Amino acid sequence: MAKRKQVTWGGRFASGPNALMQRFSESVSFDKRLALFDIAGSKAHSAMLAKVGILKSSERDAIHRGLDAIAREITAGKFRWRTELEDVHMNIEQALTARVPVAAKLHTARSRNDQIATDVRLYIKAACAEVDATLLDTLRVIVKLARQHADVLIPGYTHMQRAQPVSIAHHFLAFAEMLGRDRARFAAVAESANWCPLGSGAIAGTTLPIDREFTAKQLGFVDAKGKPRVTRNSMDAVADRDIATEFTFAAALCATHLSRLAEDLILWTTTEFGFARIPDAFSTGSSLMPQKRNPDSLELMRGKAARVHGSLTHLLGLTKGLPLTYNRDLQDDKVPLFDAHDQIVLSLQVAGGTLSGMTFNRARCAAAVADPALLATDLADWLVCKGVPFRHAHHAVGRLVAVAEKMGKPLNQVSDHAALAADPAFKGDWRKVFDLKRAMQAREKTGMPGPRAVAGAIARWERELR
Ligand code: ARG
Repeated sequence: MAKRKQVTWGGRFASGPNALMQRFSESVSFDKRLALFDIAGSKAHSAMLAKVGILKSSERDAIHRGLDAIAREITAGKFRWRTELEDVHMNIEQALTARVPVAAKLHTARSRNDQIATDVRLYIKAACAEVDATLLDTLRVIVKLARQHADVLIPGYTHMQRAQPVSIAHHFLAFAEMLGRDRARFAAVAESANWCPLGSGAIAGTTLPIDREFTAKQLGFVDAKGKPRVTRNSMDAVADRDIATEFTFAAALCATHLSRLAEDLILWTTTEFGFARIPDAFSTGSSLMPQKRNPDSLELMRGKAARVHGSLTHLLGLTKGLPLTYNRDLQDDKVPLFDAHDQIVLSLQVAGGTLSGMTFNRARCAAAVADPALLATDLADWLVCKGVPFRHAHHAVGRLVAVAEKMGKPLNQVSDHAALAADPAFKGDWRKVFDLKRAMQAREKTGMPGPRAVAGAIARWERELR
């Protein structure tokens, strides 16, 4: 049993918390990650208190010097974190008051409830910037791969069955679109995080004459014109965890995109497909089977997506049943938030590393895409150009496919006689359809995999990522 009273809130208590309760209740083991944001918040808050006359400027300066010294200790790894002080706020406040007694005035007109809400918003703004820089790096690798393999064609798949030919570039640019939307999503999260909760107090603000706009401005909670942005309802501000949930959703969806990319690459690197090879540096071997070369980086990327999804459900579940306003349950929001942040940055980096060392087997790709069945739809389109209604054309080609299958021949090698028997519309130069180059050049509208359309898309991406 810990007999010592909790120094910060211990006034009304006869004894300190039970040791087990301390272990259950502490968050400093993970929320110390917010320390530098917490210090920035305390500096802004004390600057504001001095501005409105609650602190003398000399007191503010002493507090700032103390906070700066603590920040240096933390950065150098020399700060002694104490779990019995519960969280990051109380660790820093007590270390500060020990050196600067007047810091006992720092917590005026502030609660840990608006303090933690502020710390997390600052953290998320920084995290969004970091994720965006990482997304940019990964996007650059993807677009470079697209440029290097713009002329390599492979079958595109639906239902995991060969569908129609595409270029590797077009396939990769599909992922560029997804990651491009992820960038927009993280930018939107940073925007919704950009409101300052300080001044909301524990739930109902404060009777003291604070200047919320000043504090917000100090911390960079401003709009595009530099106008301060302060949260508009004190109860919402301390109870709201939308920002953490939005960030984690953006991470979960981005992880889903990476997981789908991983899945495609895992298939492509199998002996069965043989389209691609990932670098040694991002593969691992088997402890038992000497021949193995496993795509662990990609499998882990797929696995991490599930972990980030778990973080999102954690946050949704954590908040859904909470009465307003602050409840201690909310302390645990940091665990999924931090993990989602870490896993998405790591996954993006690993995706970039794996992709940048990837090589393609052009012969295997060419052999796979040479399957004339991939152009069965083009043949139906050819019939449409001859005036055959598409539904009839589809049936006619379907019959031709059945004939080819029965004869054990590729679609374009069915005899004219047999083709005419399948449908009288098969007269003339129907075989010219089975020319891949022609087929790709017929697909040059916006968004299609024609070589010029893809070259245009690559150039647009390169401009966007410059
Ligand atoms: N460590 C707490 C959290 O992260 C800070 C707020 C605590 N507030 C309170 N009234 N106990 O949520």
